[in-house]
Amino acid sequence: MTEREESSGGRRRWSAPGRVNLIGEHTDYNDGFVLPLAIPLVVTCVGARHSDDLVRVSSRQRPGESVRLPAGSLATERDLLPGWARYPLGVVAEFGRRGHGIEGSELEFDGAVPAGAGLSSSAALCCAAAVAIRDLCAPAVGDRELIDIARAAENDYVGAPTGILDHAASILCTEGHALFLDVRAFTGAATGGFEQIPFDLAAAGLRLLVIDTGQTHDHAEGGYGTRRAECAAAAAALGVGSLRDIDELAALSGLTDPVLYRRARHVVSENDRVRAVAALLLSGADPREIGPLLDAGHDSLRDDFEVSTDVLDVAVGAAREAGAHGSRMVGGGFGGSIIALVDTAAAGRVEGSVRERLARSGFESRTFEAVPSPGAGPVD
Ligand code: GLA
Repeated sequence: MTEREESSGGRRRWSAPGRVNLIGEHTDYNDGFVLPLAIPLVVTCVGARHSDDLVRVSSRQRPGESVRLPAGSLATERDLLPGWARYPLGVVAEFGRRGHGIEGSELEFDGAVPAGAGLSSSAALCCAAAVAIRDLCAPAVGDRELIDIARAAENDYVGAPTGILDHAASILCTEGHALFLDVRAFTGAATGGFEQIPFDLAAAGLRLLVIDTGQTHDHAEGGYGTRRAECAAAAAALGVGSLRDIDELAALSGLTDPVLYRRARHVVSENDRVRAVAALLLSGADPREIGPLLDAGHDSLRDDFEVSTDVLDVAVGAAREAGAHGSRMVGGGFGGSIIALVDTAAAGRVEGSVRERLARSGFESRTFEAVPSPGAGPVD
């Protein structure tokens, strides 16, 4: 036992952040590009190992919904578990399924990432569990496998058909950077596939606001799965493995189904926007120049991918009218948050204007600042 573990009764602390995606929405499960950053809202996990084989999980936000189970029975007990506990226990089960011996452990969670806001609270919960379990029981597991474990827990155990974006962001992001992730390259090789892009808005007199509209979403239901299926159908109709294989919009002319055409046009154009934003930031250009690309991303999600809502559109419209350089919905859609790139001096005006417009529709918004923050890991 280390000195630190001894002084805390063997208990240690980890944290994993939520994320906002600067650009690159619904591209991850099409093998494309994304550009997220970690936000300073985290899920923390205090954990310790025990000499028995019981796994205990509890959440400060879910008093009375603690669970204690033998590690070996996690797969069969899943349907009886409280909803929140399926995320961390899915992670434990996935470690076990991959042959990593999980001993008795105790994990206490405290989450500050708002749920249903499109900021990846569930991925933050899975990733907090994943880094804790790795350090407690399976230190040889590398970051790539860890990301895959967290994703598999959410996909296979919880039943939410997410891509890799949220878990990769929570594990790989670093302070002061956005993460350029080439999903195909990352998942297809043992190294590479991502790049840390310096993202210092304060130096340019800018802020990135995240405004949670108060309209919540739920990925396990709704249109997310339908959109995935439509993208797969578009790829199949075009005779390619995934929409990542299409570089030119002209190549979509073979799609006769108008819905599939629009879905594919969003993915192909969004991949271009991710590369363009990354190139602008790397070139040292004024970050205000990415604004029109953020706007175009929203318009494409609204018109072609049809995952925006009236509430998100109202919020984005209000932010633009109040002087945002660019604004768009973030995450899977059907509710959740928007981002707005604003001059520091205009932040209060934009925030107030969006809040007032949403209040008129009966929604209470909350605003955070997306300061690019560290990824998941131990907390000293
Ligand atoms: C959700 C999913 C991600 C990604 C986004 C859309 O957040 O969890 O994998 O597909 O939607 O970009």
